Amino acid sequence: MSQTPRIIPIPVSCRLTGGAPFPLTAHTVVATGGEASLRGVAGQLAKLLGVAAAESAPAGGNLIALRVDPALTAKLGAEGYLLTVTAGGVSIRGGGAAGVFYGTQTLRQLLPPDLERFGWRAGGGGLTVAALEIEDRPRFSWRGSLLDVSRHFSPVAEVKQYLDTLALHKLNVLQWHLVDDQGWRIEIQQYPKLTSVGAWRDSTVRVGDEPNLDDIPHGGFYTQEEIREVVAYAAERFITVVPEIELPGHSSAALAAYPQFGNTDAPGYAPKVQSRWAIFPETYAPKPETLAFLDHVFTEVLALFPSKFVHIGGDEAMKDQWEASPTTRAFMQANQLQDGHELQSWFIRRTENFLTQHGRRLIGWDEIQEGGLAPGAAMMAWRDVKWAIEAARLGHDVVMAPTSHTYFDYSEGTAEEEGGAIGAQTGLEKVYAFDPIPAELEPAHHGRVLGAQGQLWRERMPSLPVVEHRAFPRLSALAEVVWSPVARKDYADFRRRLPWLLARLDRLGVNYRRPRQATLPAAIPMVPHA
Ligand code: ACM
Repeated sequence: MSQTPRIIPIPVSCRLTGGAPFPLTAHTVVATGGEASLRGVAGQLAKLLGVAAAESAPAGGNLIALRVDPALTAKLGAEGYLLTVTAGGVSIRGGGAAGVFYGTQTLRQLLPPDLERFGWRAGGGGLTVAALEIEDRPRFSWRGSLLDVSRHFSPVAEVKQYLDTLALHKLNVLQWHLVDDQGWRIEIQQYPKLTSVGAWRDSTVRVGDEPNLDDIPHGGFYTQEEIREVVAYAAERFITVVPEIELPGHSSAALAAYPQFGNTDAPGYAPKVQSRWAIFPETYAPKPETLAFLDHVFTEVLALFPSKFVHIGGDEAMKDQWEASPTTRAFMQANQLQDGHELQSWFIRRTENFLTQHGRRLIGWDEIQEGGLAPGAAMMAWRDVKWAIEAARLGHDVVMAPTSHTYFDYSEGTAEEEGGAIGAQTGLEKVYAFDPIPAELEPAHHGRVLGAQGQLWRERMPSLPVVEHRAFPRLSALAEVVWSPVARKDYADFRRRLPWLLARLDRLGVNYRRPRQATLPAAIPMVPHA
């Protein structure tokens, strides 16, 4: 084929096979062959197309056949798939149910954007898909996005909409930043004040008018039932929700609710749910009641989130209150901890032990490495990829989330263009150019890089439309970074394909940012394309 298909992220290979196209009509049936693990995938595809789903194929039917093929698992992995389109039918075979799901997302992008609203009717008399064969599998297993709901809260419906958009991009991890100084957002039944007190702040610093406060209360939290609902919704889209429960710092909201778990004898100790964007001195104190509290919190968290990885934050913990508290200083002395960095490591190691005993794995921001990384811990590099290189060489799994390329709270354009975003100019092309495998990292350690993640820190993103405006299409570019083979990456070609994705986001009501010099066609033509 002379041009790559208009799919983002670009598949590993795509071959137009010639011959007549597949007609998508009112009579098309999505068939699973009775495979229970595909019922949800089939239901979602049938709903999108506006056609029926069936367990078995009706004779002579116009079929989209979904199948898990164990023979493909070895070749393409559980997330890989083969998509074959002929006049007689569409076949999507996956190495696992996830692969089949990704095949359906590719089929979706082979159909015009109006599909999103009208299903098969989008073409008037039906639609066609060109005869082709696509073989595909992801480059990385961690294809993530962090959503901060502490600085600004999003109700469940918004989180679901965000998950929908991640799924379209074949992204598979939502790091849910549930806890920070400005709000605690997850119900913990044993500690009700975490949400009755910790989920609410009385005011927020005004965007563009800092440091003035708006005097408007802000808050919200997810009940455990809502958390389960989001986790299940994500799972149907093959997205793992990784909860982030920050410790030992970023704990002002928790300590506002339960001050007894902090350094109560540090002079001036008075925790509150914070209204400003800064780093605050509140840290958990290493005393038995605090450790019991943390264990109880994690016990409830683990019951809600099946994710193997649990993110414990670990970033930006100020050491001041530990140093200022006679009790904490005595604890450090008794445990031969030289300084705050070693106490920070002590907290992380203890949490790592707890998670390991419960069959989980700890992941944390790169500061957790400063006093030595716990043996099985994974690390998320944000300040600099050099931390990831060091950790990978020591045999730790790493996820790349550097401020330089993946912080989408940083502006895309100049400060004048952006009105309030952090003025670092992380443009679309820069994001696209990111390679999660650093050039300096020896090939023997490449397997330690699980993938990469785009961050949506919401100090200056009060609502979902603003989040979407910062996220897309930069997260679309990052999706191609983490999914597609390096040999398939081509920025000019990505920009050629992008208008079709943006037209689709239009139909879905996603408030993406229109890229500069975008060559958006006036109208996306209603023709099958590949
Ligand atoms: C971070 O941005 N503090 C991880």
